[in-house]
Amino acid sequence: MQNTTDFLVIGSGIAGLSYALKAAEQGTVAIVTKKETAESNTNYAQGGIAAVIGSDDAFQFHIDDTMKAGGYLCRREVVEMVVKEGPARIKELTDIGVQFTRNGPGLDLGREGGHSHHRIVHAADLTGKEIERALLARVSSHPNISIFENHISIDLITEHHLFGAGKRSHDSIHCWGAYVLDVDANVVKTFLAGTTLLATGGAGHVYLHTTNPLIATGDGVAMAYRAGAKISNMEFIQFHPTTLFNSGSPSFLISEAVRGFGAVLRNRQGVDFMRKYDSRGDLAPRDVVARAIDSELKRSGDEFVYLDVRHCDAAKTRSHFPNIYERCLKHGIDITKDLIPVVPGAHYSCGGVVTDVDGATTINGLFAIGEVAMTGLHGANRLASNSLLEAVVYSHRAAERVQRNGRRDPIPGNILDWDDSGTNNSEEWVLISHNRKEIQQLMWDYVGIVRSNHRLGRAQRRITLIVDEVKDFYKRTKVSEGLIELRNLACVADLIIRSAIERKESRGLHFTTDHPETDDTNWLRDTVIN
Ligand code: FAD
Ligand code: SIN
Repeated sequence: MQNTTDFLVIGSGIAGLSYALKAAEQGTVAIVTKKETAESNTNYAQGGIAAVIGSDDAFQFHIDDTMKAGGYLCRREVVEMVVKEGPARIKELTDIGVQFTRNGPGLDLGREGGHSHHRIVHAADLTGKEIERALLARVSSHPNISIFENHISIDLITEHHLFGAGKRSHDSIHCWGAYVLDVDANVVKTFLAGTTLLATGGAGHVYLHTTNPLIATGDGVAMAYRAGAKISNMEFIQFHPTTLFNSGSPSFLISEAVRGFGAVLRNRQGVDFMRKYDSRGDLAPRDVVARAIDSELKRSGDEFVYLDVRHCDAAKTRSHFPNIYERCLKHGIDITKDLIPVVPGAHYSCGGVVTDVDGATTINGLFAIGEVAMTGLHGANRLASNSLLEAVVYSHRAAERVQRNGRRDPIPGNILDWDDSGTNNSEEWVLISHNRKEIQQLMWDYVGIVRSNHRLGRAQRRITLIVDEVKDFYKRTKVSEGLIELRNLACVADLIIRSAIERKESRGLHFTTDHPETDDTNWLRDTVIN
């Protein structure tokens, strides 16, 4: 079954939806998304979007904060561009109906770790949900856009899938769409398009404990890697310092904006320990805070530290953080009176599919925007609330780029349909769930906040076995959601481990006890996997 449009968008978070709206001004758009439309990391974003709006703020401050948080591995020209285009994109979101929290005539601006100024535009503590709502309202009523829910993309279509194709050469790969499993109908469809956007988000579920919803299994990076795209900086996995202890899977996030509001981290003896680690205290960037918590926990043997908001005005706490207040109450914690037990959890993937300044990947006809991409903005550690910003800036630029370039080459007529001859409906479902858990556990134990050669070596030996096992199983078995995700999780775990082994220094989110220093002479550069 074939479906042909001008644009194929894979993913319906902020990146996919904002790009789709702009692309739809130029042609027809199909959005495929693996669950219901709103289910995305975007929908859970709490803190907000960073942008220079306050009268005491300036582009240079935001640029400096981003560079510093990123361990100076960020591409300066990208940082400057994103920061400067930020305010226009915030205005656009407001124009399409996003109801940001206001403070008198202007927008209320919060503060988060690593930011020298108040610049976080937000909708209370449910910013992502509000953005997703407004974008979906527009997208759903657009005549040029069709949305396909419960459609999970399996692989990108390239030269490799042409009937009678010769051996592909690395510098001339084209993408013409994707093979997509319609989960409800249990049939694989061929989605063809002149331009394809990967907007599949992050990979939090490579780890045992994560803030990410279940959709975040690294599918986009794995698909792009298999298709031959350049992948970079996968070792930089951001652990958010404060997720609610024992809140299930995914772990519930306690926004960094709570610390921006005045909350303080304490160990179980009640000591506010952050100044011992960094002069910026509780508002140091996330890599620093997560490592400090990890160190406190290892030293004490405790399972969690506390976040303390009790000294802040209770009514203001409730009105700034209604969602966090309610959710903690369900766990028996009144945050205005009780300490909040918190632990770090995997949160964000700074590396990904390499793009240029317009979101174009190294594969012709393929763009990547949002968390799946490595644009150069985040370097070794993403500054809080720069992710939603990056997604809206790049969606705009990618759509403009396609318009500038005009129509793409025609789609070849000899693209093969999905062929699953020789595969069976296997009964070995236990293999999928067992291997998935094994990957998550080994990544958590050996490739976490603090790494070492010994642990990474162990992780690599184990993941190599799992990758081989999954490859073999995949060849023999009809595709299912679980199998597609497992294959991608194994692939992405392998990429993270390989990148972490390659980087022989500590920078930003990659800290290894064997190379504890930052080495600017040899390592002020990206790790690259082709
Ligand atoms: P997502 O929003 O994750 O969307 C990905 C989409 O792709 C989903 O629709 C998914 O179903 C779909 N998909 C995935 N794989 C496939 C496939 N194989 N086939 C079809 N569809 C697929 N960032 C900030 O800047 N500010 C914040 O305040 C903030 N708070 C956060 C709070 C939480 C709890 C979390 C988890 C993240 C937060 N982040 C925040 C990070 C930010 O939300 C994400 O990085 C951003 O939303 C990513 O947007 P995206 O469009 O790239 O991906
Ligand atoms: C948060 O609200 O702490 C998350 C912000 C982010 O991930 O940028």
